[in-house]
Amino acid sequence: MTVSELLDEAIARLEQAHVSFGHGTTNVLDEAVWLLLHALRLPLDSLNEHLDETPTAAKVKAFRTLVTRRIESRKPAAYLMKEAWLGEHRFYVDERVIVPRSFIAEWMQPRRYDETVSFFGRTNRESVKRALDLCTGSGCLAILMALMFPEAQVDAADLSADALDVAKRNVLDYNLGRRIHLVRSDLFSALGGRTYDLIISNPPYVKAASMKRLPPEYLAEPTLALASGRDGLDHTRTILREAYRHLNPGGMLVVEIGHNRRALERAFPRLPFEWPATKSGAGYVFTLRREDLEA
Ligand SMILES: C[S@@+](CC[C@H](N)C(=O)[O-])C[C@H]1O[C@@H](n2cnc3c(N)ncnc32)[C@H](O)[C@@H]1O
Repeated sequence: MTVSELLDEAIARLEQAHVSFGHGTTNVLDEAVWLLLHALRLPLDSLNEHLDETPTAAKVKAFRTLVTRRIESRKPAAYLMKEAWLGEHRFYVDERVIVPRSFIAEWMQPRRYDETVSFFGRTNRESVKRALDLCTGSGCLAILMALMFPEAQVDAADLSADALDVAKRNVLDYNLGRRIHLVRSDLFSALGGRTYDLIISNPPYVKAASMKRLPPEYLAEPTLALASGRDGLDHTRTILREAYRHLNPGGMLVVEIGHNRRALERAFPRLPFEWPATKSGAGYVFTLRREDLEA
C-alpha cells in the first residue's frame, strides 16, 4: 500500500468513528497526516515528497495500530504520540498536562520576532528582563517566552505538581534550566513580592455547563486545566485582582479567556481590555497595561 492509500484509509476510519479534534489539529486530514508521519518517522510537512512510496509492513502495522488506539481510546493524538507542536516548536506531553494550543503562542514565535514584538508593546527584545507564565502546564509558553526574550528570567507557575514535572522535562529539553524557574503556586500566592515586565497566562476557563458537554478527547485532559467555576472566570478574576501588584511600571498582562469575552466585559465594565486578533479572530485573548489595572 502507498502512503497516499494509507492516508485515505485512515481518513475514512477517523471520519466513520466521529472522533473530535482541537488538540493540535482542527480537521480529519491534518489529524491523519500527523499520525501517519509520526508512525512512518517522517518530518512534519514532508508528506508530499512521500505520497507514492510503499512503507514496510512493520510501519503500516504501526500506523494502523496508532489509528485504532486513537479511535478506541478517544485520547488526543498528542497523548498517544507524546508530543505537541506550537508552530515549529515541539513539546513533550502526556495526560498530566493539557495539550498545548494556546492562542498566545501566535505572538511567541521567536523566528518571527520582528513581526510580533510590537504586540507586547516593546521595541526591543532585550527590554523584557523578568517575565511570568502563570498556569504553565507543560511549560510551552514559558519556553517560547524565554526564546523570544533572550535576556528574560522567566517564572513558570502551576498548582499541579504533575504538570510541573512535565514542564521540567521540556525546560531541560530546551536547555533553559538557568532561565526558567518552575514554581508550585496557586496563581500568585507563592510569588511573594516578585514583579514582572510581562505576565502571560492561559488559565483554565471552561464554564461549568460546558464542562458537562465535553467530548471524550477533552475529558482525557486534567480537569484542573479546564474548569474555572460557573462562568469560566474564577481564575481570571483573581488574576485581574492581583496582577497590578506583580507588574513593573510599563508592564503588560496577556490572558487567554476562550469564549468568555462578553461575560468578562460585563463583570469588569471599567477595564479597557484590548482584544488582539488571532488566527480565529479577536476576542479570545485580552491585554491590559499595568496602568489600566491601577484603579
Ligand atoms: C489551560 S492550562 C494551560 C497550560 C499551558 N500554559 C498551555 O497553554 O498549554 C491551565 C493550567 O493551569 C493550571 N492551574 C489550574 N488552577 C491553577 C491555580 N489555581 N494556580 C495555578 N495553576 C493552576 C493547571 O494545572 C493547568 O496546567
